Amino acid sequence: MSKRIAILPGDGIGIEIVAEAVKVLDHFQRQGLEIEMLEAPVGGAGYDAAGKPLPDETLELVKSSDAILLGAVGGPQYEGLPRELRPEKGLLGLRSELSLFANLRPAILYPQLADASSLKADVVSGLDIMIVRELTGGIYFGEPRGIRRRPDGQREGFNTLVYSEPEIERIARVAFGIALKRGKRLCSVDKANVLEVSELWREVFTRMGAHFPEVQLSHMYVDNAAMQLVRWPKQFDVIVTKNMFGDILSDAAAMLTGSIGMLPSASLDQNSKGMYEPIHGSAPDIAGQDVANPLATILSVAMMLRYSLDQAELAANIEQAVGRVLDKGLRTPDIMAEGCREVGTAEMGEAVLAELSA
Ligand code: IPM
Ligand code: MG
Repeated sequence: MSKRIAILPGDGIGIEIVAEAVKVLDHFQRQGLEIEMLEAPVGGAGYDAAGKPLPDETLELVKSSDAILLGAVGGPQYEGLPRELRPEKGLLGLRSELSLFANLRPAILYPQLADASSLKADVVSGLDIMIVRELTGGIYFGEPRGIRRRPDGQREGFNTLVYSEPEIERIARVAFGIALKRGKRLCSVDKANVLEVSELWREVFTRMGAHFPEVQLSHMYVDNAAMQLVRWPKQFDVIVTKNMFGDILSDAAAMLTGSIGMLPSASLDQNSKGMYEPIHGSAPDIAGQDVANPLATILSVAMMLRYSLDQAELAANIEQAVGRVLDKGLRTPDIMAEGCREVGTAEMGEAVLAELSA
């Protein structure tokens, strides 16, 4: 049965990088992969088209899709809008409306890019970490929230950090499952020395650990985890953590690889329906200039094939094609190095396509 893929380029460089990733999907479609692709606006583009960052038609499309490919959202022209209308709301709306609670953010160092990291090569060479970030709970979505006036006349801002036991259990199940398929080491990151939420989080993870005896479970406070990530990142296999800690740690982990333009992500629901996107943003400063790196988005297609479309072999084909393109010395400006050849967005996409067709 044909699978439906929603294509949401979003804003800024999202448009040009998604175009390259769609070429890869087109290629597989010509080879017989049964997919249909339908495009819709989200983020600032949603606001421009329909007056809100997650237009009704876009929401309808993603709900009826098996997988979603997203570019990026945001731009300076939308920064003055009320919070509800800002592009980021479109992204958060997609996550919550589709219950995409499990966010997988691999941080892999391509050997060809070892010199791109700001850390010493021996600290990062061979790096392969998976960060599992809870994505639909915690302080991002907790109620009550707002800015209010206190009786003494001063204003205060407030948010709520809350996790229910079932929410912790379901992200734990995903994290243990992923650890099982990798190095079988899972580090749960929390702040149990200060936060009650973390106390419950740690208790639930410890209990769940008993069901996964092959997985070596450890716990780490988030401040220490931030330090360990830049000190000796190879100690980690799979890291699992709350929404906001995951937001922060995944940016740090991405930079270990020296190339935020290389890293894909997957956001999955209970049934492996997923949204796939590069972890970088919309980079409005370089949009439309044919300099953005399309590889994170192309690698996001690989994750889509693996996690939502049950096509692990095609996924591996993409990953190997990207490796060969790097071997040949092709680099977009963000990963440019001595002795390599600088190429633009479109040429990089074409190069991957050429490898896939070879
Ligand atoms: C991310 C981003 C988003 C987040 C923003 C754009 C809302 O930083 O996906 O990591 O904070 O989750
Ligand atoms: Mg972030």
